[in-house]
Amino acid sequence: MSNLPRPRRAAKAPGTAQADIQPAAPTKSAQSQPAQSQPAPPASSAQPPASPARAAASSPPAAGGDKLAQLDVLKAEVAACTLCEELASTRTQTVFGVGNPNARLCFFGEAPGADEDRVGEPFVGRAGQLLDKIIEACKLRREDVYICNVLRCRPPGNRTPSGDEVTNCRRHFERQLALVQPEFVCCLGTVAAQALLDTTETIGRLRKKFFERGGMRIICTYHPAYLLRNPAAKRDVWDDMKLLMAEMGVTL
Ligand code: URA
Repeated sequence: MSNLPRPRRAAKAPGTAQADIQPAAPTKSAQSQPAQSQPAPPASSAQPPASPARAAASSPPAAGGDKLAQLDVLKAEVAACTLCEELASTRTQTVFGVGNPNARLCFFGEAPGADEDRVGEPFVGRAGQLLDKIIEACKLRREDVYICNVLRCRPPGNRTPSGDEVTNCRRHFERQLALVQPEFVCCLGTVAAQALLDTTETIGRLRKKFFERGGMRIICTYHPAYLLRNPAAKRDVWDDMKLLMAEMGVTL
């Protein structure tokens, strides 16, 4: 049995998403290839075939564990959390996480902004729209991956999370990731990378390689909000995504 939602919309035309995250003319190897032929569904399956990338996007649910129920319990605990007094008193709501709980890949951001605080879902504002384009460039859909943040509350004025706030939320994000158990985590920006890897190293030095933590393979790249301010860095992010997709066995 699969908890995967079924496809709801057609894939973008090949090349469109790459162009969105890659400002300069793409190299030949970065250009999208024509869609590959779809594998035939098993005779017993009534479901439409997934693309090779999407077929590789999720793992079978862990045997015996009621992951969804445990995530719901954690979500309720998070909603009641008041460890960070300032955040608890200024948030509209907590922002837990979204996506496929059996995803092989989790995108890990910094903290909710104003849009996320209002909607209750991570990455729904401008940075989120760019993240969606990055995901599409990887031939995946938002609902194929899991998305969460270091913090579950919006820091007022979108300031950088304090060390104490990261420490307070660590119990939540570590438990959340342990439940989802993604094989791969892509840290978006300095705060996410430093929190998950427990380091003070710069994002520039954390890119372009994989780290192992708790059974997860972790890669770090620039935050989409940084890309909105520095479009030239989209090329670097696309390089990181190609590295990640190659490691996941996804053909772009
Ligand atoms: N930036 C983040 O890091 N996370 C969000 O959810 C939105 C913007």
